Amino acid sequence: MAGIALAFTAVTRVLSCIQPTGEVHLGNYLGALRNWVIGQSAADAFHGIVDLHALTVTDTPGVIGNETLKLAAMLFAVGLDPEVATVFVQSHVPEHAQLGWVMECTVSYGELSRMTQFKDKTAKREGHFISAGLFTYPALQAADILLYDANEVPVGDDQRQHIEITRDIALRFNHRFGETFVVPTAVTPPAGARVMDLQDPTSKMSKSADSDAGCVYLTDAPEVISKKFKRAVTDSETEVRYDPETKPGVSNLLDILAGATGQAPAGLAERYTRYGDLKVATAEAVIDVIRPIQDRYNDLLTDQAELTRLLRIGADKARHVASATLQRTYDAIGMLPA
Ligand code: TYM
Repeated sequence: MAGIALAFTAVTRVLSCIQPTGEVHLGNYLGALRNWVIGQSAADAFHGIVDLHALTVTDTPGVIGNETLKLAAMLFAVGLDPEVATVFVQSHVPEHAQLGWVMECTVSYGELSRMTQFKDKTAKREGHFISAGLFTYPALQAADILLYDANEVPVGDDQRQHIEITRDIALRFNHRFGETFVVPTAVTPPAGARVMDLQDPTSKMSKSADSDAGCVYLTDAPEVISKKFKRAVTDSETEVRYDPETKPGVSNLLDILAGATGQAPAGLAERYTRYGDLKVATAEAVIDVIRPIQDRYNDLLTDQAELTRLLRIGADKARHVASATLQRTYDAIGMLPA
């Protein structure tokens, strides 16, 4: 059983995923999606819309399918090319749930208990239903990644711990059953890896925040974006300086501006003497990035049949890779062939 030969290709395999829970925001874009687009031509890229993950917090009938389709439109609108990258829906590839179970049996209760995302999400859901899926979530995420023999996983900073646990699971499985999985690495961008809430710059920008005022959505109208930046929380000093520890609000604006323009945040700080000018410049840079995305998004949404067709092609390509990995996994364990 041990020592199964792996014939991995020399081309880097990239995989990353996003949940279809609400609108895509600037943190998703600067922390992850933009890197997916940049990386798609240099690597063999797989990107999943992880609807099964969304079930951990979804219980309204009839919503998730539409959210999934809208997110597909957004992924193509930000620049994923269906001819180049494989974009698929997680539930269309049953191997995710199948390998997910194997991963649950390879990770420990203690490891899952240490996940900060689980602690944060359960704290926010106090008094509400907390599904077991919320707890075992990282096992399914490990399956998402390991199914594709991914070398690199482009994510925002908040996902680092989940990639670490995936590495631990892969190493443990390989140790128990022989070389089966590629051990992946998290890749985060130089600026925008942790975009913070504009109203509370000590919390990450998130669609599950109490209010939308600090969260910029890729579908927000330009005037809404300007208003959100104008009202962004800064601090009582007046100096524009990049110092995330003591000036989180101003540094977040500089990080966003850096992410949107491709420049370094500390260098950008030298160009501004007033918070107001920095806010206006950041809003304008973000609007410039978002406007063409919105045009493509609105266009793509008018042809839902085409989106469905593209997702079907993506699922076929994804299943081709995923089914081989699942079989390799069962063989490594020594399950009785069907
Ligand atoms: P999700 O859907 O919450 O977010 C998608 C991506 O956006 C990044 N991100 C951010 N980056 C910077 N600043 C922020 N404020 C910010 N908020 C979100 C996330 O890091 C992520 O890269 N568990 C994952 C989905 C997932 C996944 C996977 C990711 C499931 N399976 C396999 C990678 C590989 C999640 O909930 O991401």
